[in-house]
Amino acid sequence: MEETKIPQRLDVSSLRGIMLPQSTYENWETIWSFQAQPDDLFIATYPKAGTTWMQEIVDMIIHGGDKEICQRAPIHLRQPFIEMKRPFMPSGLELAEAMLPPRILKTHLPVQLVPPSIWEKDCKIIYVARNAKDNLVSYYHFQQMNRILPHPGTWPEYFEKFLAGEVPWGPWHDHVKGWWEAREHQRILYLFYEDMKKDPAHEIQKVMQFLEKDLGEKVIEEIVGHTSFQAMKENPMTNYCSHPCFDHSISPFIRKGTVGDWKTHFTVAQNERFDEDYRKTMKGTSLTFCNEL
Ligand code: A3P
Repeated sequence: MEETKIPQRLDVSSLRGIMLPQSTYENWETIWSFQAQPDDLFIATYPKAGTTWMQEIVDMIIHGGDKEICQRAPIHLRQPFIEMKRPFMPSGLELAEAMLPPRILKTHLPVQLVPPSIWEKDCKIIYVARNAKDNLVSYYHFQQMNRILPHPGTWPEYFEKFLAGEVPWGPWHDHVKGWWEAREHQRILYLFYEDMKKDPAHEIQKVMQFLEKDLGEKVIEEIVGHTSFQAMKENPMTNYCSHPCFDHSISPFIRKGTVGDWKTHFTVAQNERFDEDYRKTMKGTSLTFCNEL
């Protein structure tokens, strides 16, 4: 009888103060020496900020709105996750190296851990940020259903871990601020999940412009439809249903997709504590977020 391969939860280790999955940590030298190509396009995010949504939008734009082409493979094979090495699967770097240009690549790395070659080659990068409260809620559910990340513990425990930045890929505030500052001297299009919810066509236009594509109103409408929450939830090429690391019986990968879900999780006391911490960690930045629509 064939053995069922179910991945086990991995540890995390701290690299320059940032918690990373053990496999990323152990493979760090290879990741740091990653060789970018000038026409690589990166989608960079803090985990759970809307990465997959942007990935599908970009794939649709690159392929002129052709839905059939976007069905060619699950999203994690179409757009490798460069720092990820999962059990029983080729690593993100191996997938990237086997790809023909132009490549679309995903990363959750904070700006200070981005492999230098990506800056040297002046690659274009799309960064998507999401308000911290919804990002925290989404991450909590994700760490429950993700078989290879550490278990999040209870909601109150996870809440404290997130505030302390003791979660994979480190503190949310440093991540969003670091990339916000980097956009001043790099080719970075910085977008917000909440704007994508409010007016997806408008944000898709911005991505198109950044990618120097002009597809017209009708194709934009098609892209909006194809990348809607419901469409992506039902699409096996975007919903990660066949991914061995995710247990959808605990929580679906494409879970709720709303702005303001934090209100169904935060207690009044947690909200006050969160706001107080937020004022300190976000002090002095011009970066602002919208917590409800
Ligand atoms: P929730 O857990 O709040 O539902 P990432 O791709 O970075 O891991 O982000 C996952 C989050 O984006 C999940 O948030 C998921 O539901 C949401 N998401 C994915 N596709 C979406 C879409 N088309 N529209 C809105 N939200 C989407």
